[in-house]
Amino acid sequence: MPKENMWRQRRVPVPKRTIELIALVAISSTLFLFLHTRDLHSRLKKMEVRLQPGEDDVLSANQLSSDGIQMDSDSNSIVHYPNVQRIFVEKYEDEEVLDIDTLNNTKRADRQVLFFNRVPKVGSQTFMELLRRLSIRNAFSFNRDRVQRVETIRLAPIEQLHLARMVSSYLEPSVYVKHVCFTNFTEFHLPEPIYINIVRDPVERVISWYYYVRAPWYYVERKQIFPDLPLPDPNWLKKDFESCVLKGDRECRYLQGEIHEGIGDHRRQTLFFCGHSEKCTPFNTIGALERAKLAVEKHYAVVGVLEDINTTLTVLENYIPRFFQGATDVYYDQANSFMRINRNFFKPPVSEEVKNLVRSNFTREVEFYQFCKQRLYRQYRALKLRSNVP
Ligand SMILES: *[C@@H]1O[C@H](CO)[C@@H](O)[C@H](O)[C@H]1NC(C)=O
Ligand SMILES: *[C@@H]1O[C@H](CO)[C@@H](O)[C@H](O)[C@H]1NC(C)=O
Ligand SMILES: *[C@@H]1O[C@H](CO)[C@@H](O)[C@H](O)[C@H]1NC(C)=O
Ligand SMILES: *[C@@H]1O[C@H](CO)[C@@H](O)[C@H](O)[C@H]1NC(C)=O
Repeated sequence: MPKENMWRQRRVPVPKRTIELIALVAISSTLFLFLHTRDLHSRLKKMEVRLQPGEDDVLSANQLSSDGIQMDSDSNSIVHYPNVQRIFVEKYEDEEVLDIDTLNNTKRADRQVLFFNRVPKVGSQTFMELLRRLSIRNAFSFNRDRVQRVETIRLAPIEQLHLARMVSSYLEPSVYVKHVCFTNFTEFHLPEPIYINIVRDPVERVISWYYYVRAPWYYVERKQIFPDLPLPDPNWLKKDFESCVLKGDRECRYLQGEIHEGIGDHRRQTLFFCGHSEKCTPFNTIGALERAKLAVEKHYAVVGVLEDINTTLTVLENYIPRFFQGATDVYYDQANSFMRINRNFFKPPVSEEVKNLVRSNFTREVEFYQFCKQRLYRQYRALKLRSNVP
């Protein structure tokens, strides 16, 4: 036997078996890995789909809101998510479908008339002043209603018609500001204005209202306008919010479905969006919530959020540029600062325990506030996807 053959005869059988073994192992592990990867891939897909509709909105809203101005901040309303989820969301955000046209109700308005049916105690005094200054910069006319003895925010149909007619008679471009419920112009066959409003954390808002009506300058000012108004009871003036809630005072009881408390603290922020209908008055009900959401989605160009002024200003500037271009500059203009308008220095702090007690009765109001916030952030993200808005 040649030497070469001998070597083969002696050495080949062992490697041959080893090679077959290696090949077998390799093939089966490839198969295993393939199946495993496919499984992982489909699980990942499922996770992405699950994150698509609601959850990422909430998350991004909270991410953004932590950057925003926190006025009378309450961290309790912010839900914290672990960082793990964030990776998926960030990945997903690039693919998020945000149709800027669907989000832009300004396009659907029939006239260049801005209708700001401002909610009380949400910093709307500051926004009104901002609009007044912008009216000079951006050349539009500014109109607001008179100070009323009793603010009537719910109007009879005939009064709604008068209001809608009056606003429709303004020359373009104009703005009109009033504390009033959402008024549906198209119901009266009148041209649709550009609706805007601002919302605030509903519990913070109700606390703000509580101390606002007790601040000395509030009744001094009202006494000047309406001299025959009686002065309030000193015991009522001295009462603080915490003991009012804890003692279960009428004024600080927030009962589901209640229609009339005779207090007029505008505890229903949703009322300003729901409309004049009787269905809108029962406190914290699903019916009023759904109607309010519908009006926002269908009619409002922008509903800003007091707790995040910067996002609000950016969205206003981009979605309603005719009125709001330069809004951020005007708002932060150091030389003419007006940030302190209507700030109440008589407002003592309220404990988180008491806030949470109240919050648990404001569930639908909180949901509406979150809904507006998410919509604002969706509008904001749509801008970021389109261009390089900071
Ligand atoms: C909001 O914008 C102003 C002006 O651009 C800036 O000075 C401020 O830091 C911003 N605030 C937040 C919370 O991002
Ligand atoms: C919350 O509602 C319950 C009834 O559902 C009522 O007993 C309670 O007094 C309310 N609390 C506050 C702070 O309004
Ligand atoms: C406003 O009125 C129009 C016309 O009647 C109607 O189609 C629309 O749904 C109303 N909007 C709301 C929020 O009810
Ligand atoms: C929204 O529509 C208004 C009116 O057509 C337009 O001026 C504005 O640029 C639009 N904004 C965005 C972000 O598309």
